[in-house]
Amino acid sequence: MQNMNKDIQEILFDEEQLRQMTQTVARQINADYSGQSLVVIGVLKGSFLFLADLFRQLTADCRIDFIAASSYGASTTSSGNVRIIKDIHMDVSNKHVLLVEDILDTGSTLSYLTEYISQKGAQTVRICTLLDKPSRRTKPVQADYAGAVIPDYFVVGYGLDYDERYRNLPYIGILKPEIYTK
Ligand code: IMP
Ligand code: MG
Repeated sequence: MQNMNKDIQEILFDEEQLRQMTQTVARQINADYSGQSLVVIGVLKGSFLFLADLFRQLTADCRIDFIAASSYGASTTSSGNVRIIKDIHMDVSNKHVLLVEDILDTGSTLSYLTEYISQKGAQTVRICTLLDKPSRRTKPVQADYAGAVIPDYFVVGYGLDYDERYRNLPYIGILKPEIYTK
């Protein structure tokens, strides 16, 4: 941990702030899906901690599955070429689906996944993201639920990685640029 903390320039959201953001989002989702069935699809891997905390606060009749898409590698910008590397197993036809993501950046991943899940016959597809970086959007996609909107920082922790590291930091921090520019 010592090792990782020194790579962080600034803590953006501490554990208490993350707890409050998750609770606010859960309340909105609970109000919108009250009395309905919902299929929650976690976008791996970055959403796993947020989703673990969010999921147990949801009060609708929920099912869960996971999907993984790739467009990154060891880089801080998306290549834009999205590919599914792990598909869902659940039948989503005529279901209300909520895609849960760690961060909505260019929008490539979520515009692709929204279309992909819609084509499987979902009745509705909405997006819940912990963080939203709208300034970098290249695809017309919007979050239905967002924990926080942030400027164009590259952030890690609470599930988010740089080159598969830092996911286990309990907070969200801005990664020092020298880590990814060297
Ligand atoms: P998009 O397809 O460009 O919207 O990128 C979405 C994916 O890029 C997210 O699921 C993250 O895995 C990754 N990503 C974008 N911004 C960041 C960041 O600041 N930190 C860590 N991962 C990020
Ligand atoms: Mg991700």
